[in-house]
Amino acid sequence: MEKKLSLWLLGAIGLLALIYGCQNMAVEMRYGKMLYHAKCSSCHNIIEPSSHDKETWEIYVDEYGQKMTAKEKQAVLQYLVGFD
Ligand code: HEC
Repeated sequence: MEKKLSLWLLGAIGLLALIYGCQNMAVEMRYGKMLYHAKCSSCHNIIEPSSHDKETWEIYVDEYGQKMTAKEKQAVLQYLVGFD
């Protein structure tokens, strides 16, 4: 009986951690998207995230993000290339 309960608890904690992690990810993504639209569309239209690969985006974000902090650039990059 007690063993069952602790197993159940473990499962519940794991599930909560998973949900919490996903939400954090979603918040990060929204922040990156917001930044990308705010900082990267003043000179040209928004460029589709799928139009460049990770290496190319890193170069562009570095080049055009010179007025952004390292954290902001990272959030934009995460939005552009996803979390893989
Ligand atoms: C100060 C103006 C300015 C800002 C701000 C700016 N860009 Fe650009 N961007 C340009 C210009 C001008 C070009 C075209 C130059 C060229 O093609 O060589 C360009 C071209 C690009 C290209 C290549 C064109 C294409 O169709 O793929 C990418 C990618 C890009 N920018 C990404 C970004 C990103 C990401 C940001 C934000 C971090 C950003 N830009 C912010 C001026 C800007």
